[in-house]
Amino acid sequence: MNAAIRAVVRGSTYHQKEVFGIFRGYEGMIDGEIVKLGARSVGNIIQRGGTILKSARSDAFRTKEGRKKAMENLDRFGIDSLVAIGGDGTFTGLHAFYKEYGIPSICIPGTIDNDIPGTDYTIGYDTATNTAVEAIDRIRDTALSHNRLFFIEVMGRHSGYIALNSAIAGGAVAVILPEQDVTFDQLYTLLEQSGKANKKSSLVVVAEGSKIGGANELAKMVADRSSYFDIKVTILGHLQRGGPPTYFDRVLASRMGIASVEGLIRGEKDAMVGVFENKIVFNLFASIMNGQHHEIDEESLRIAKILSI
Ligand code: F6P
Repeated sequence: MNAAIRAVVRGSTYHQKEVFGIFRGYEGMIDGEIVKLGARSVGNIIQRGGTILKSARSDAFRTKEGRKKAMENLDRFGIDSLVAIGGDGTFTGLHAFYKEYGIPSICIPGTIDNDIPGTDYTIGYDTATNTAVEAIDRIRDTALSHNRLFFIEVMGRHSGYIALNSAIAGGAVAVILPEQDVTFDQLYTLLEQSGKANKKSSLVVVAEGSKIGGANELAKMVADRSSYFDIKVTILGHLQRGGPPTYFDRVLASRMGIASVEGLIRGEKDAMVGVFENKIVFNLFASIMNGQHHEIDEESLRIAKILSI
């Protein structure tokens, strides 16, 4: 997100537009936590995870009065267009605000879940997945040395992107996604088969939103059924949400940040910037916000299955 903030600030400065940072999202908009930024205020942040502007959930912004206060603050600073970074909640808030006040707004998709339609990639997803893969590689050393079965839980309450691609890249024997209808029996059969196929150790990647249970539950279910496996569990949790972003995320965020500013100058409004086939695109909020989900790639699922034999 810092790379995106930097790009919005420098893109605005380049195009001779004044630019302000609003701290703590919509909450800061309501409380007037707004500061003028310039090219130098965003130095030395491209390599840092998180966001220098901080983030907050805002119940007040869901109310008409909250949004009215936010608009008064924007008027006070002479702010006439907005760029917000976030996911579903951020978009919904911005769309409501646009409908009420007509202030041109662009959203930049920022979530490690990569679950937003209208873009192939969201900011943070590549970094989080690389972190998961690195962790899986490290865990594999123990799994191999001790002939163990590991259940590794990765983030993704509703989205299996991190799980699926870290499983392929980390060489997992199985992956359990929120989007899938797999049964425990199917998983168990697969583990038995991998034992018969002479695998001494196995890694199973589980997305936290798995419908058949998280890593702890699945480990217990396997242990209850058989004492054959020496089972361990690792839950990666918020490790995946921090740390220096990958080159891919920095470039993606930089492109989206500049595109947002230039889009606003061109007259884009009420839209999300995205990348599709490596080109910048703009999608109107209404076209992506009707309960759609960025679908899991069936071909990747097939590949994961073939590779796990
Ligand atoms: O929305 C992204 C996400 O990383 C989910 O995958 C995860 O379930 C959630 O955020 C964790 O959020 P929190 O920090 O609020 O527990």
